[in-house]
Amino acid sequence: MKTRILLAAVLSASVAFAGPPAPKKEGIEGQGYVWNAQEGEKIEALKLKGDVTRGEEAYEVCGACHLPSGAGRPDGTFPQLAGQHTTVLIKQMADIRAGLRDNPTMYPFAATLIDPQELADVSAYIENLCIPTDHGKYEGADAALQVAKGKDLYEKQCKECHGGSGEGDKSKFYPVIAGQHYKYLLRQMTEIRDGHRRNANPDMVKVIKPYTDDQLVAISAYQASLKMPGAMCGDGKK
Ligand code: HEC
Ligand code: HEC
Repeated sequence: MKTRILLAAVLSASVAFAGPPAPKKEGIEGQGYVWNAQEGEKIEALKLKGDVTRGEEAYEVCGACHLPSGAGRPDGTFPQLAGQHTTVLIKQMADIRAGLRDNPTMYPFAATLIDPQELADVSAYIENLCIPTDHGKYEGADAALQVAKGKDLYEKQCKECHGGSGEGDKSKFYPVIAGQHYKYLLRQMTEIRDGHRRNANPDMVKVIKPYTDDQLVAISAYQASLKMPGAMCGDGKK
């Protein structure tokens, strides 16, 4: 354990010095960008079987921001990770490490994961955590109305990918959104619509490009209200 912490400190110090890689030009706005290209360490990590015990140790450094439970924070700064599909976790981390998704806050820590095996281990550990139910929701006085408006949009345009309960699709890299914090969802929805989350799925971008800010609020309010049966804490999982 001591060695790992020391190693993490040394690596993050040297990486912090080097800084994140310059953002690649590729991305949703770029020419010839292929979403989820089947290449790089992601492919290696996806083939490996993750070890939950080793993953727990690797996760220690992550808990500082994402919390030891993987709950993240209701203020939307740090997303909930608990229960996310391993495929999604591996893809997002590989994208962050490769400069395809901007995350300067996390970059030095993402860079401490040593190899594809460690990506697989930490992802297996996170996927296994139950999804906390007390996450950040939309709290306006018109919550019921917003959730209803959002449900309408979601069922027409999002459900086929993210599922009726926000369960996503592991084999297709579609994220779980059940239990995610409202403020994080709203930020991601805005960044994806405006072309700032460069690794976004182009088919999803097409769907949300025309959304107004009000529609983004409603759809985020609805997503934050979703529960994924069997995966929520206290609901068959602990
Ligand atoms: C210094 C704080 C910090 C630390 C430490 C940190 N992260 Fe993060 N992480 C973030 C932030 C901030 C985001 C959200 C970035 C954004 O809004 O796009 C994030 C996003 C993520 C995402 C994408 C989630 C999603 O829903 O798309 C994954 C996966 C992730 N972190 C995994 C990890 C793992 C694993 C570790 C430990 C190796 C870790 N993080 C350590 C701050 C941190
Ligand atoms: C064609 C399938 C598809 C459709 C349709 C789609 N999405 Fe997505 N969505 C994805 C994929 C894939 C990602 C992950 C993108 C990546 O690779 O980073 C994603 C990411 C997200 C995220 C970010 C999750 C996170 O943890 O950071 C949110 C929130 C989201 N989608 C909500 C929606 C909503 C709401 C709709 C409907 C308006 C929608 N999506 C429509 C496939 C889709």
